[in-house]
Amino acid sequence: MAGAALLFFLVVLCSPPFLSCAQRSAETLAEIEALTSFKLNLHDPLGALNGWDSTTPSAPCDWRGVDCTDNRVSELRLPRLELGGRLSDRLGNLRMLRKLSLRSNSFNGTVPSSLSQCTLLRSVFLQNNSLSGKLPAEIGNLSNLQIFNVASNHLSGEISGELPPRLKYLDLSSNSFSGEIPKSIVNLTGLQLINLSYNQFSGQVPASFGELQELEFLWLDYNLLSGPLPSALANCLALVHLSVEGNALGGVIPAAIGALPKLQVLALSQNTLSGTVPYSMFCNVSVFTPSLRIVQLGFNAFTDIVKPETASCFSALQVSNLTILDVSSNSFSGVVPPEVGNLTRLEELKMANNSFSGPIPAEIKQCTLTARAVPGGKSVLGFNSCKFSQPFGAGDFELEREPVDWNFA
Ligand SMILES: *[C@@H]1O[C@H](CO)[C@@H](O)[C@H](O)[C@H]1NC(C)=O
Ligand SMILES: *[C@@H]1O[C@H](CO)[C@@H](O)[C@H](O)[C@H]1NC(C)=O
Ligand SMILES: *[C@@H]1O[C@H](CO)[C@@H](O)[C@H](O)[C@H]1NC(C)=O
Ligand SMILES: *[C@@H]1O[C@H](CO)[C@@H](O)[C@H](O)[C@H]1NC(C)=O
Ligand SMILES: *[C@@H]1O[C@H](CO)[C@@H](O)[C@H](O)[C@H]1NC(C)=O
Ligand SMILES: *[C@@H]1O[C@H](CO)[C@@H](O)[C@H](O)[C@H]1NC(C)=O
Ligand SMILES: *[C@@H]1O[C@H](CO)[C@@H](O)[C@H](O)[C@H]1NC(C)=O
Ligand SMILES: *[C@@H]1O[C@H](CO)[C@@H](O)[C@H](O)[C@H]1NC(C)=O
Ligand SMILES: *[C@@H]1O[C@H](CO)[C@@H](O)[C@H](O)[C@H]1NC(C)=O
Repeated sequence: MAGAALLFFLVVLCSPPFLSCAQRSAETLAEIEALTSFKLNLHDPLGALNGWDSTTPSAPCDWRGVDCTDNRVSELRLPRLELGGRLSDRLGNLRMLRKLSLRSNSFNGTVPSSLSQCTLLRSVFLQNNSLSGKLPAEIGNLSNLQIFNVASNHLSGEISGELPPRLKYLDLSSNSFSGEIPKSIVNLTGLQLINLSYNQFSGQVPASFGELQELEFLWLDYNLLSGPLPSALANCLALVHLSVEGNALGGVIPAAIGALPKLQVLALSQNTLSGTVPYSMFCNVSVFTPSLRIVQLGFNAFTDIVKPETASCFSALQVSNLTILDVSSNSFSGVVPPEVGNLTRLEELKMANNSFSGPIPAEIKQCTLTARAVPGGKSVLGFNSCKFSQPFGAGDFELEREPVDWNFA
């Protein structure tokens, strides 16, 4: 009788939907083993993974943070759970893994090179942890990887070798990467976002960025980049955001930048750029209405901005979306162009610490302003904002939101 009951129990347990017992495939057992080993390495102060029990009927598919497709682990998502410790090499045994999100925890140690065995991986979110060491070269083997985010870790070293060929979104920001920006980036023709800000990348901004026709967001702020801003960037016709603040770029702004029809943010503050700011940048009016919203040119050595013959430029700007214009701490001189006060959408205007002279135009007087002089005879005009609002930012690429047209099917 007891034997019959046990048999009944086993039959139920080992039948759909309770696939278990002998019906567990070798692949499933390997995945249970991989995840269990991952868990054993962890520091889990909240007990977030206490429910990870290999005897549950559909283990590991019914475990917290685990998603399966056809009974194989396709996603591992454990963000913001205060998990610490090293990432187990066994993660490489999740051979059907498409999405790995362990962001905003306290993981330390290195990015395991075994991840390159998860050849179906499309997105990796490891940002906001304490990972260190070099990026394993094997990552370049991930031929399906589209999103790779390791921002805000302690990663270092050069980006040597190849990067995954189908990348669309690459965020290496806020680490300690060094060396030159890899030339091989030219081959990643699907890139839409590159964020290398807050690292120690050195050398020049590669002209080969100009090959990236899908590129919309290029963030290179606060590195050690030098040399000119390559005019080839003007070939990135999809570019919406270009920021290279806080580097050591020199030379002039290439006039060809004016040919970027979608550019909304141009942030070049804190470099050693000089010469005339090309007016084509604001209004290549023969081609299109200016799309620029934010122009940050502060702390450089520019001497002139717009040439007198550009009255049509100002009238185009009046209907433009220019909301922030920062030309402070440069070497601009002469009278303040009165047309600036007519920029209808302007919310923030910074002109302090230049050598402007003459009266403050009536058009600008509607804004709150301060005027003072500093020792050394350089006149300082600081026009404070008419009003403030949230500047355009990173919101377009939410941490894990995958743009709908990225075809993740
Ligand atoms: C890594 O994290 C674990 C668990 O939080 C901790 O015990 C260990 O000291 C950390 N190691 C390093 C090198 O920070
Ligand atoms: C980073 O992770 C911590 C928890 O470890 C969290 O409090 C913080 O909000 C996260 N920051 C971002 C920008 O996601
Ligand atoms: C993965 O990448 C490494 C280093 O780039 C390379 O040596 C190896 O042959 C690659 N393996 C596979 C399976 O492609
Ligand atoms: C781009 O890819 C081609 C073909 O794989 C390769 O020959 C070339 O060296 C790559 N270019 C760079 C700069 O890595
Ligand atoms: C205006 O745009 C056209 C077409 O993109 C470009 O060829 C031209 O050089 C631009 N004019 C200036 C002054 O940059
Ligand atoms: C100004 O912004 C509005 C709303 O965001 C947009 O529809 C319009 O196309 C923009 N104008 C230009 C010239 O980019
Ligand atoms: C004024 O501008 C110069 C040149 O960019 C800069 O070196 C200096 O620090 C600025 N002074 C102030 C008070 O911002
Ligand atoms: C500013 O706009 C006003 C009203 O449209 C116009 O009368 C004035 O001439 C403009 N000033 C300049 C310098 O364009
Ligand atoms: C790029 O990285 C910086 C620094 O981590 C961050 O502040 C910024 O929001 C990032 N931009 C995007 C579009 O993610």
